[in-house]
Amino acid sequence: MNPRATPLVGFGAGKVILLGEHSVVYGNPALAGPLSYGVTAQGVASKRCQLVLPSTLSRPQKALLTRAFQRAAGLVRTPGVKVSLESELPLSMGLGSSAALSVACCRVLLKAAGREDAPREVARLALEMEQEFHGTPSGVDHTTSAEQKLILYKRLPNQSSGRVRALKSPRPLKVLVVLVGERSPTKKTVAALRERQARWPGRYGRLFQQIGTLAQEGAKAVEAGDLEALGDAMNVNQGLLAALGLSSPPLEEMVYRLRAMGALGAKLTGAGGDGGAVIGLFLEPEPAVAKLLELGVRCFSSQLAGPRAL
Ligand code: PMV
Repeated sequence: MNPRATPLVGFGAGKVILLGEHSVVYGNPALAGPLSYGVTAQGVASKRCQLVLPSTLSRPQKALLTRAFQRAAGLVRTPGVKVSLESELPLSMGLGSSAALSVACCRVLLKAAGREDAPREVARLALEMEQEFHGTPSGVDHTTSAEQKLILYKRLPNQSSGRVRALKSPRPLKVLVVLVGERSPTKKTVAALRERQARWPGRYGRLFQQIGTLAQEGAKAVEAGDLEALGDAMNVNQGLLAALGLSSPPLEEMVYRLRAMGALGAKLTGAGGDGGAVIGLFLEPEPAVAKLLELGVRCFSSQLAGPRAL
């Protein structure tokens, strides 16, 4: 990399799962889309290949981040680039912050190595980082971030990659995202559900299948511009997530609140548990955002739109 060259920039979008979290781990489809917020990585020429670590992180967090970064860098022959990060996403709230960080870093690493940062290539590399962070994720987070499109995603058996179908929505899809407080790490919530599923596979398998069907129906509704049908699928999905033991009083309270404020559908998004994020599908979310912000509720709106230019 030429030291005088302009910095290399890579963006990784955060994501929301509209339908199908958890059941996607078991091979069922999920419907997910990119947020307009995410992580931006900037790379400048350097003798070494290194990631500048945010000072707010703990020592184990720094070690994990370095390990993940070097693992991806090794696959593109460790180019001489110093990468720094800027994040607009809250950590560990179900909005795909680690996937966004991985995608942003990998875009810069690919560019620094003189390679094209095509979505599939970015996803392949970002998976290496995600595996350090999460072990064996379904792959929906980093794939949505790398594709930066609304997608129907189906995991391939025992892999962290899957089949992707990009969806076109004839109508803008706007969500209101509320941050409802602390939650356990995804790994822990996924492992606890795995134990229940292993003990009662028939019962849990039926629920996962139902959720997968909702994701397929939701994808059809998106393509038909039928946002009422999409919202209804989200409401039913929330009921099934509660049946799986993934919801909690603070999440339920917010789900009902968003519905009362005019959401076409509302549900938890991501791993769920004691807290995390709740999404509401709105034709026009701004009045609800203003009202909630006035009451001190942490929230924002986003269109699940196409690529952000960078
Ligand atoms: O880490 P989160 O909260 O964004 O959740 C990821 C989605 C899960 O389906 C719960 C896990 C996975 O690997 O798909």
